[in-house]
Amino acid sequence: MSQGEDATAAGVRNTVTMTDNRTGQSWEMPVMTGSLGPDVVDVRRFYAETGMFTYDPGFTSTSACESSITFIDGDEGVLLHRGYPIEQLAEQSDFMEVCYLLLNGELPSAEEKSNFEKGITYHTMLHEQLSYFYRGFRRDAHPMAIMVGIVGALSAFYHDSTDISDPQQRLVASYRLIAKMPTIAAMAYKFSVGQPFVYPRNDLKYAENFLYMLFSVPAEDYKVSPVLARAMDRIFILHADHEQNASTSTVRISGSSAANPFACIAAGIASLWGPAHGGANEAVLRMLHEIGHKNRIPEFILRAKDKDDPFRLMGFGHRVYKNYDPRATVLRKSCHEVLDEMGVEDPLLELAMELERIALEDDYFVDRKLFPNVDFYSGIILSAMGIPTSMFTVLFSLARTVGWVAQWTEMIEDPSQKISRPRQLYTGPKKREYVPMAERG
Ligand code: SDX
Repeated sequence: MSQGEDATAAGVRNTVTMTDNRTGQSWEMPVMTGSLGPDVVDVRRFYAETGMFTYDPGFTSTSACESSITFIDGDEGVLLHRGYPIEQLAEQSDFMEVCYLLLNGELPSAEEKSNFEKGITYHTMLHEQLSYFYRGFRRDAHPMAIMVGIVGALSAFYHDSTDISDPQQRLVASYRLIAKMPTIAAMAYKFSVGQPFVYPRNDLKYAENFLYMLFSVPAEDYKVSPVLARAMDRIFILHADHEQNASTSTVRISGSSAANPFACIAAGIASLWGPAHGGANEAVLRMLHEIGHKNRIPEFILRAKDKDDPFRLMGFGHRVYKNYDPRATVLRKSCHEVLDEMGVEDPLLELAMELERIALEDDYFVDRKLFPNVDFYSGIILSAMGIPTSMFTVLFSLARTVGWVAQWTEMIEDPSQKISRPRQLYTGPKKREYVPMAERG
């Protein structure tokens, strides 16, 4: 890991000065500069030098690590993976190549890509004993509950890749997680519809294999539509990684305690499930169904603005993007392509387009820079592809696994890495003596 520069060419350290106006005391804090994006104030010694903590619930102004994997410029709507714009990767690359790029930092040669794909392909099968875990769930269990359970249990079966201090074991665990997520996800779906599990096939590409495991049945041959396979592959690319979002931070914090990689990814899946995060794609579809008709859009826009109403416009807004989410732009285009290809006139897409138009003309959304995000369109495409709503976030977790694994690896290999242990502003009772029951009022 190369530390950001914190000195000028003349060797003068870049610093900011903080003064406590209660005492007149001042402190100099080093400033670090990365390759792109805002500089950071290095506050690692802030408590030691000032006796005070910084305060930033939600981490809106906090960089928790140094990373070279993904860069986001929220104002400009820019998303780069190892420097490559998401629009170019979505258009010209494929998910396996993006996985290689996220994990290794460079685009692969043809031979490197072929070897990587083979490595992933030969890890797609699941230990047969794990299939019995599914039978412990109710058939109507939410697939995300199954994902959290099964992925968390993987460490019980792949114990030979849980020693995080061994680079080879970290690599094997990474391959196993990326490779097995489609199999685990497809099995969760098959279990929910009462169909037999379908084993992965080594002659199919990653996205194609997933759709095959999802939709084929033993009773007849099943050929995956190349258009759907390409659309699914692109959806995986668009969801692969996204800097230090809630679920990635969860994986990093879990990993900082030296927990095994399977447990860390299970924690990431749990965090992603929230409707404010990865669960939003499922929430968007439920919202569109609840709105039902474009005549009711104004009613829901009003509710979204009402501070007393917990309703928010699902698929709109983002902690970082104060411009269009570049992934939403790609998905919007892909949405039309898939629906045209499928010959689907999806009234929900029409409703979504009308909702987008109205919201983007409304001062409340414009003033707060609440644009459609990646989840706004993904649900509509997935729905058109025949994926049930309850599987939307499962697909998000499937695609995001490579990002979580790449970020986890970067954290483990960072020589400055410590266990994550934030402090607090305590506002509870001061010290007081215990009151025996007989003396309580
Ligand atoms: C993902 O972090 C990532 O990178 C996540 C992600 C990834 O790839 O990992 O991009 C994936 O999680 C995308 C986001 C999916 N979530 C949703 O679509 C749910 C709806 N969106 C909101 O919950 C919200 O926009 C968040 C959670 C996404 C962002 O919340 P913030 O940054 O904490 O925004 P905020 O609460 O500070 O909002 C600022 C203002 C507030 O109003 P005021 O107090 O200023 O009057 O905007 C309002 C909010 O009430 N607001 C919304 C809104 N989102 C924010 N009002 C109505 N509808 C919304 N969707």
